[in-house]
Amino acid sequence: MSQEPHQTSDRRELPIERGFPIERVNEIADKESRAKQWYRPVYTMHKWWARRLGCVFRAISLYSLLDDPKKAQIYESNQENESLSEFTNSELDIQNLINQVDLEDPESLWKLFPKDVRIKDKKVLDPFMGGGTSLVEASRFGADVVGNDLNPVAWFVSKKELDAGVTDIEVLKQAFDKLEDSVADEIQEYYKTECPNDDHLADVMYYFWVKELDCVSCGDTVSLFNDYRVGKGRYEHDDKYHVLCPKCESVILVDDWREECTCDAVVGKTGKKCGHEFVPEEGTSGGGDYTCNSCGQKYGILDAIQEQGGFNSRLYGLEYHCPTCDQNNLNKGQIKSYKQVEDFDIRLLEEARNEWSEKEGLQEYVPTEEIPLGIKTDSSKFEGNITGGHNVLRQGFSDWTDMFNERQLLSLSKLFREIDSYENQNVKEFLLLTASNILRTNNMMVGYDYSRNGIVNLYKSNSFDPPQKPCEGNVWGAEYGRGTFESIRDMVIRGVEYARNPTERYIKDGDTHETAPMEYSVGQSASVRCGDMRTLDQENEFDAVITDPPYYDNVIYSELSDFFYVWQKIVLHEDYEHFEPERTPRTESIVANPAVQKGAQEFEDEIRQAFNKIHTSLKSNGVLTFTYHHSDSESWGELLSALCDVGFEVTATYPISADENKFFEGEAVSFDIIVVARPATDRESVSWNSLRRDIYRTARRTRKQLEENRDLSRGDIGVMEMGACFREYSKHHGKVQRDGDIMSAKEVVQEIYGIIQEASDIGVEDVFIDLLDTANVSYDDVNKLSRGTNANPEDLKEMRLYNQDDGFELGTWDNEKRQAYIQERVNGDSDDHLSNLDKLQFLRYRYEKGQAVQNYVEKWDVDDDMRELAGRLADVTGDDTYTRVLGDRDITSY
Ligand SMILES: C[S@@+](CC[C@H](N)C(=O)[O-])C[C@H]1O[C@@H](n2cnc3c(N)ncnc32)[C@H](O)[C@@H]1O
Ligand SMILES: [Zn+2]
Ligand SMILES: [Zn+2]
Ligand SMILES: [Zn+2]
Repeated sequence: MSQEPHQTSDRRELPIERGFPIERVNEIADKESRAKQWYRPVYTMHKWWARRLGCVFRAISLYSLLDDPKKAQIYESNQENESLSEFTNSELDIQNLINQVDLEDPESLWKLFPKDVRIKDKKVLDPFMGGGTSLVEASRFGADVVGNDLNPVAWFVSKKELDAGVTDIEVLKQAFDKLEDSVADEIQEYYKTECPNDDHLADVMYYFWVKELDCVSCGDTVSLFNDYRVGKGRYEHDDKYHVLCPKCESVILVDDWREECTCDAVVGKTGKKCGHEFVPEEGTSGGGDYTCNSCGQKYGILDAIQEQGGFNSRLYGLEYHCPTCDQNNLNKGQIKSYKQVEDFDIRLLEEARNEWSEKEGLQEYVPTEEIPLGIKTDSSKFEGNITGGHNVLRQGFSDWTDMFNERQLLSLSKLFREIDSYENQNVKEFLLLTASNILRTNNMMVGYDYSRNGIVNLYKSNSFDPPQKPCEGNVWGAEYGRGTFESIRDMVIRGVEYARNPTERYIKDGDTHETAPMEYSVGQSASVRCGDMRTLDQENEFDAVITDPPYYDNVIYSELSDFFYVWQKIVLHEDYEHFEPERTPRTESIVANPAVQKGAQEFEDEIRQAFNKIHTSLKSNGVLTFTYHHSDSESWGELLSALCDVGFEVTATYPISADENKFFEGEAVSFDIIVVARPATDRESVSWNSLRRDIYRTARRTRKQLEENRDLSRGDIGVMEMGACFREYSKHHGKVQRDGDIMSAKEVVQEIYGIIQEASDIGVEDVFIDLLDTANVSYDDVNKLSRGTNANPEDLKEMRLYNQDDGFELGTWDNEKRQAYIQERVNGDSDDHLSNLDKLQFLRYRYEKGQAVQNYVEKWDVDDDMRELAGRLADVTGDDTYTRVLGDRDITSY
């Protein structure tokens, strides 16, 4: 069913307005979301929150930007070099791929997904670039991209992604080597321990800490162990668990950490076993309280922290790797394992503390700022709340440096100081990017994942959630261990290599393939700005705005990003003015956040201003494609009216998956959506009755097309139906009249919800109305229109809604056979089985004959459904008697 796309004078209908291959995108998105650092390492160089997947924006870019075969060149990447692909020689072929995209089969363009496609003369803006995904992907198609974000951290992260494509990898590697030569040994010195196997030192991968509070009753110190797990056993012990004995503090191996066990560690010089019996699962803290081992007093942790002016932390265990034993081929379980903390470890920590407090010139390389008050740092100070706030300010943290211990501050300051001394700005910034991203793991705000034997990242949830048992990693890095400078450095190098010569993974015959590296690199023509997007000054300039705007209180970017900002600022504040302030901007941030006195209404007002600005920046034939959350009808209504009010027409909506977590949850609620909108042309007045009919048909048609041709869930189909209906509405926004009033977009969305539901339940009456609306109607139409509905031709025939005795006849009110059928029922014993259609045709007939109708109208208790149907009949036949017989006053035609 491929048609030539519409083309008005200056506006081509874009592939993305006709169809989008969500099945293909989801298939690859599912894989990408599980292995982002391998699929598109350019995006894992540094954390940003709620990032969209690259494949989603690549597909969006391809379907939004490729509209003119004359402007496209397609290269095939292969192992040797790139060549123009077979398509390129033929504009006609590309034109075909473009034209073939439609709702039923949008996959023609998908063929180009794994190709190096370059599209000329396209200018793309992302005013809310965040982690820069849209810009990186659009730039790979050769577009000139302009990015903007209010947040300096987002600006920096995106800038480096775009810089990566034009960065000399050798120069960068040399800089990393030089950094290693100058600071690695010095840092690593503080992460050593005595190897339990022999008389030499091993490397520490992780130190384990526990918080301590005084018992409010007896004054004893209580360590806040929620349980005594240290880490799951490895190799030959992978069915066991390492736990800490609360009595002798040895790390022992037990079969089951939930069951009672006896400590078999030998203590002291006597050679005697400890023998302590305990259940490792049963710790001293839980549910926000802690319990004293000596006197049994239970008390709230938060209260105690407040009253005692903070908490202490104590080192109790560590995980090591011994390179010497590794070389000597000892058992794997001996080379890498857990052990308790000994004097050596305490002394080393003391040395680090001393160096940190005494050494000159390092303090200026850690942040000096206080943690600002905010909804994520102390929600109790504001009216209104937000999910996932963890109130660090009430947990004994007040400066950003409180989130780190002295050894971490010492190591990090050495790194930052060294990085700050680099001359080459670009190189310096990549080193900074790396150092900044290791902050996520090298702080005291993260714990250890016992079952997976590795440190957890900060921002697993989008908030600060300090654990009772923090885990301290090795800042530079040992042979193993996550989130170290070495491992993030390798990821940054991979990111830069990828940006220089990106590849694509695609699925063919069920297997994933990767293309050879493509020649066209990321960010060849790119610029980024840091500021409020409402102050952008471009007008009529962009062919496309591709973006992911903020969504209510989904993520409080400003508060979260300050954690990185205060460190990045150390190196960047002299180079960029947006790195001068104490913290990232909040008031201009478009978000619902009680801490800046903004609720849903403020968010909605601001997002309108944003759409308005986007509208101004777009060319009149441009397109706005953005991702958003799918939610209830009310926020759909809000979104539609905001877009329409500022002058957009919504032309399509599609469901997408946000991330792996949301992937398998099923129906519509868990999906994010893509919205396609274009600057509206003139809008025409329309009556709600007639628009309703259009919308109804559109919903039906869309559903049928999708159900018959694609393998989609009901939720997916619902979202696309919505988009198709919005498109109908958008052409008339502000000019839809019902009962003499103009309908608002929100009212219409409410109606559309109902219509979509109804359209999924198409019955005899609906098919009949469609038949009424069909020119030169024939039996073929009965067949065709009944397909995929709850009606079938037999039912229609039985009701005499058509008959074929003397050629094909429709059962209109003045059709004898049809009227005989109705009268039989009206005059029968009961009229229970009279349908609304029967009733209306009966009334219409009586009216014609000059017979009274009022008594029937009263008897039948006319309801909304019947009025509705009367309206539709009147509308489709142009005969408003149907509504008049029901006594409707408002039947003037608009
Ligand atoms: C949903 S995020 C974008 C995520 C991005 N698409 C990605 O994949 O990483 C929205 C962004 O809008 C930014 N933002 C909020 N208010 C803004 C404003 N007034 N001007 C510009 N950017 C703003 C936030 O800082 C945030 O980075
Ligand atoms: Zn006590
Ligand atoms: Zn013991
Ligand atoms: Zn060893």
